[in-house]
Amino acid sequence: MDLFNVYPLFDIEPVKAEGSYVYDKNGQRYLDLYGGHAVISIGHSHPHYVANISSQLERIGFYSNSVQNPLQKELAKKLGELSKMDEYSLFLCNSGAEANENALKLASFKTNKSKVISFKNAFHGRTSGAVAVTDNPKIIAPINRRDDVVILPLNDLTAVESELSKGDVAAVIIEGIQGIGGIRIPDGSFLKGLRELCTKYEAFLILDEVQSGYGRSGKFFAFQYAGIKPDVVTTAKGMGNGFPIGGVLISPDFDADYGMLGTTFGGNHLACAAGIAVLDVIKSQKLIQNALDVGSYLMDELSKFDQIKEIRGLGLMIGIEFEQEITEIRKKLLFEKKIFTGVSGKHIIRLLPPLNLKKENATLFIQKFKEVLDEL
Ligand SMILES: Cc1ncc(COP(=O)(O)O)c(C=O)c1O
Repeated sequence: MDLFNVYPLFDIEPVKAEGSYVYDKNGQRYLDLYGGHAVISIGHSHPHYVANISSQLERIGFYSNSVQNPLQKELAKKLGELSKMDEYSLFLCNSGAEANENALKLASFKTNKSKVISFKNAFHGRTSGAVAVTDNPKIIAPINRRDDVVILPLNDLTAVESELSKGDVAAVIIEGIQGIGGIRIPDGSFLKGLRELCTKYEAFLILDEVQSGYGRSGKFFAFQYAGIKPDVVTTAKGMGNGFPIGGVLISPDFDADYGMLGTTFGGNHLACAAGIAVLDVIKSQKLIQNALDVGSYLMDELSKFDQIKEIRGLGLMIGIEFEQEITEIRKKLLFEKKIFTGVSGKHIIRLLPPLNLKKENATLFIQKFKEVLDEL
């Protein structure tokens, strides 16, 4: 059987990874400034993470959500403490799209409405509700197309209020920092305004922190820079450092009913073991502070390059925008300088490294980046 060929692949086969480095089958080492698409939070193959998952697997890997699983409570407790959102409750699932799907469903159940506002360049996943609120018609199949989704310009509160005032909106969904859309940060005043308007018009404010959460921005969640309290926050990617897990953090204003949400695999023992290890390491190794420090250093150094059109970002979520297309730059970084980076569209390089990236790794990247840009 052949694989369904939906991914354009680089001819590189990673077989091992450690910290901020990935090794291919020929033993070639690559500096990882992509983190497998913002997934690697605490670094590859962290010993505490490996030990926690391995020892859990030796005891029990899975049982259903119809029995007690104290690991889920431990994960929720640790997540509440580290994110300073202790009063929220946690629903565990398996991916970012699924987290958003559940958030939208909760909003619709609770408001008894169905319209959703999202924003230009937004990406929220590929399942039916999540893709419908994503600003990319190419990936919306006819079955997912909806008339009750409104995509508005980012940072335009007047447009949001004129839509909300119609009274039929269940939720406003927004990324803490737009990732796939090119590292665009919503203004703090915009997020505060959204909070006020959602309260006024009785709509849910959903913060999608799937990519920007888990310390990547230099705060646990990027929206925390604005000092607001969303109704629902969604998370995935860095939550499991590669083990599939997603979460929906739900404000204490909303009560659960049995059967309202559900999943077979969500919150399984192995996923919880991974998620707990991630939180332990983020805390003990002060990785949120590291993301802030190394991220600021990278942005300062990048600001010295005059070939760059604009640098945007917070912590270790950085977009480097060029006038010209970046395909050649990225290829040279990967194949000649042995550095993985991400992209967004044709003009933006995205840096999403593990949060334990050392300053010396950042310096190495800056040197190699300069060599590539000088050769252009
Ligand atoms: C902001 C955001 N939301 C949701 C998703 C979807 O997550 P997943 O691929 O785990 O379903 C992504 C994935 O890139 C994302 O960046």
